[in-house]
Formats: sequence, C-alpha cells, structure tokens
Amino acid sequence: MKLSIIGTGHVGLVTGGCFAEYGHQVVCVDSDARKIDLLRSRRMPIYEPGLEELVLRHVDAGRLRFSTDIKDAVRDGEIIFICVGTPALAGGRADMSYIDKVSRDIAANLEEYRVVVEKSTVPVQTGRNVKMLIGKYVKKDVPFDVASNPEFLREGSAIADTLHPERVVIGVESGRAEELLRKAYAPFNAKIVVTDIHSAELIKHASNAYLAMKISYINAIAAVCEASGADVEQVADGMGMDSRIVRSFLNAGIGYGGYCFPKDVEALIHISQEMGYDFGLLREVQRINLDQRERFVKKVEKELWVIKDKTIGLLGLSFKPNTDDVRESPAIEVAKKLLERGARIRAYDPKGSEKAARILEGVTFCKDPYEAATGADALALVTEWQEFKTLDFARIKGVMAHPTLIDGRNLLDPATMRKLGFTYRSVGRA
Ligand code: UDX
Repeated sequence: MKLSIIGTGHVGLVTGGCFAEYGHQVVCVDSDARKIDLLRSRRMPIYEPGLEELVLRHVDAGRLRFSTDIKDAVRDGEIIFICVGTPALAGGRADMSYIDKVSRDIAANLEEYRVVVEKSTVPVQTGRNVKMLIGKYVKKDVPFDVASNPEFLREGSAIADTLHPERVVIGVESGRAEELLRKAYAPFNAKIVVTDIHSAELIKHASNAYLAMKISYINAIAAVCEASGADVEQVADGMGMDSRIVRSFLNAGIGYGGYCFPKDVEALIHISQEMGYDFGLLREVQRINLDQRERFVKKVEKELWVIKDKTIGLLGLSFKPNTDDVRESPAIEVAKKLLERGARIRAYDPKGSEKAARILEGVTFCKDPYEAATGADALALVTEWQEFKTLDFARIKGVMAHPTLIDGRNLLDPATMRKLGFTYRSVGRA
C-alpha cells in the first residue's frame, strides 16, 4: 500500500520505517527542512537503536522517501498518519496547534478519498475536531474519514515495539476506514482492537497514565519500605507474581520522565477537568513523582551533609537507558537540584550528554564514568544504563575522594557494593 506519515519525530520516523519493513511504499513529510535535509543526507535526527539501518535500508530499496511538501503526503498515501507533536502548554493543556495546521493543510490538498489517522497522543475528542476542520477547509466535496490509531512505542525499543505490537488499536467510524487500516496492519500479524474514535484516543492516555500510576505507587511503597526496613525489590517481586498485577513498571527509582508520561498525565487531568471530572488520583501520581527526585537529593545531602562545593559524579542524564532523549529527564532535574545547592557536577551519559549540555549550565561533561568519578565526594547513579552495572568499581573507588554511591535506579546489588567498600544507598532497600 501507499502510506504517508506527517511528522518525522520519534513516532513518525519509526512508524514510517516499520511500514516500509513490511513492504509498504512510504513517504515521510516534515515541514522542518533541516530535518528532511538531514534524513536525505542519510543522517538521523534522533538516536534510536536500529533506526538508522532500518531507514537507510528502505531508502536504498526505494520504499521510503522524505519530503517537505504536504501535497506529497496527501497525493501519495491512501492512509495519512499524523505524527506531529502535542507538547504541553503552560497549565497542562496539550498544544493542538500542529495537529490543527496539518489538518487544514491536508484539507486544502485533498483530491480523492483518504483516511486521515491521528497517531500522535491526543486528548479524547481530538478526532472530532480534526474531522470538523477537514470538513470545513476541504475545497471540493471530497470524501474522507478520520481515524485514531495510537502508538505504544517506547523509546529505546521503539522498532521492536512497532514491528511486533501487543495490540493495534484502531478507532474508526466507517467500514471503509477500518478495511484500509486492517490492510495496512495485515503484515504485522498483531491483535487488532477496533473501537470508536473517542475510545481509541482514551485507550492511549489511560494506558500511559496507568503506567505512570504504577510507578508512583511502587515509589510510595519504597518510601514505606525505607521507613519500615522492608525491601521494595522483594515486595515488587512478590506483588508481580499475581497475574492481575504483573512485575513490569514496578521498578522504584527517581520517578518517571520522558516526552510522554509527564505530558500525558497532565493532559488527561486537564481534559477530564474540562469535561467536569476532577482526576485527583492523577494529581497525586504527579506529586509522588516529583517528590521522588527531592527524596533522592535528600539522600545525597544526608551522606554529604553540606552539598555546596562538594564534587558529585553523575552517572546518567537521559530519562531512561538506550536513548539520547533528555526531555523531562528526572536525571536532569536531580542535576539541577544539586547545582542549586552548590554542587560541582561531573556528568557522564553514554548518549545524552550533547542534548543535556544544551540545558545544564556549569556541569563538566565527561567522556567516561571513571572521569566522572574522579575526585568525587559521591557518585549519583540516575539512569540505569546497563554499562553502569559492569563498571570496574575498584577503579571507580580508587579515583573518588570518598567511595559513596547513591543509586537512584536500584541498578546495583547492595551487598556487593558494600563488600567493595562503598557507602551504598538506594531506593526502598535496607
Ligand atoms: C512510554 C510508554 O511506555 C509507551 O507505550 C508510550 O507510547 C510512550 O511513552 P517511553 O516514554 O519511551 O514510553 O518510556 P517508558 O519505558 O515507558 O519509561 C517512562 C519512564 O518511566 C522512564 O523515565 C523510566 O525510567 C520510568 N520507569 C519505568 C520507572 O521509573 N519505573 C518503571 O518500573 C518503569
């Protein structure tokens, strides 16, 4: 099939590459000419494992191309997927201006029947507005359908998540749109859930908010563990054996971050409020999440007494491993809090330093963890990159001013670290 993607961010680029992988003919369009130039010169605007090979393979095979012209998308694709951003505005409401602009541009170029699909995470009822806008701005009486097909890809494993989804949610209001979307997803061999458009939109927000709630829940339990002497890992393992609960997303730490969870929780609170429901539960989820960073900094403070003028080695900057994304990263927020208290920070991240350097001032960015640890009064582990698990800790200890390690992700084994001579603290573990 011929498919169009509008927006070449994380979602758009991965989706485009994966549709090409399953044999579709794909055009990816973005109004940002710099991004399109970059992609045409075979470079990726983001880091995602496997993305470069995937994209280049299909560009070379002639299945994937890039354009700045939305006309290309509307002319070529039987289905047009809108993958533009919906960032949070001040006050929490999702900024729908990019979706609004794209909808009007699609309408202005519509010549024959198309299915216009919202793939970006959008508040419930967006589909209705997209339909209204296209209907208003379409020049001739061209038929079209609007559908919702939310993505569930995680950064760092986005390609596998997209190629082998646990479910594909399709929100439609016509048999014709359903048929075309089923055809597009037929090669994926996935369970397809067909709903109305509102429900599909809400499945996405409800899922992300639920996962965020799970994380805040275990972080609250971690606080109780710290107060009572219980071990949060053992509690989570025991809870996770219940098939109604499951173990995933019960990792205590410094809280969730990234482009999706914070924005989606906020947007769901906001849209619920607008519709007359006060989602206090989610406000508490946010509060616990923010508090978690502060609790971590307090642990550092407890070990160092006064943070001012102390050197702290920071291991991690990205919001989670296997990505260079530092948006809403709890690691960055911890760094800011430490800087506010007068710390000297030496930071290392395998991928995130370049982007972090645009946000953090007064931090020394190091080329490896050993350089970050050199002269440090404490090491703060704030992103759970696997490479931090297998560091040469004897060497780390040798270069530090004092071997104190505060693990905000429970990545390391407390007994081993203590045996190695570290003063070791983590989250919710005795
Ligand atoms: C998320 C959703 O998982 C995905 O389905 C959606 O489409 C986009 O948003 P992503 O933001 O890439 O994906 O990251 P995810 O792996 O879900 O982690 C989000 C945050 O939660 C990270 O900061 C991570 O460190 C944190 N987290 C996750 C925890 O603190 N504990 C956990 O147990 C799991």
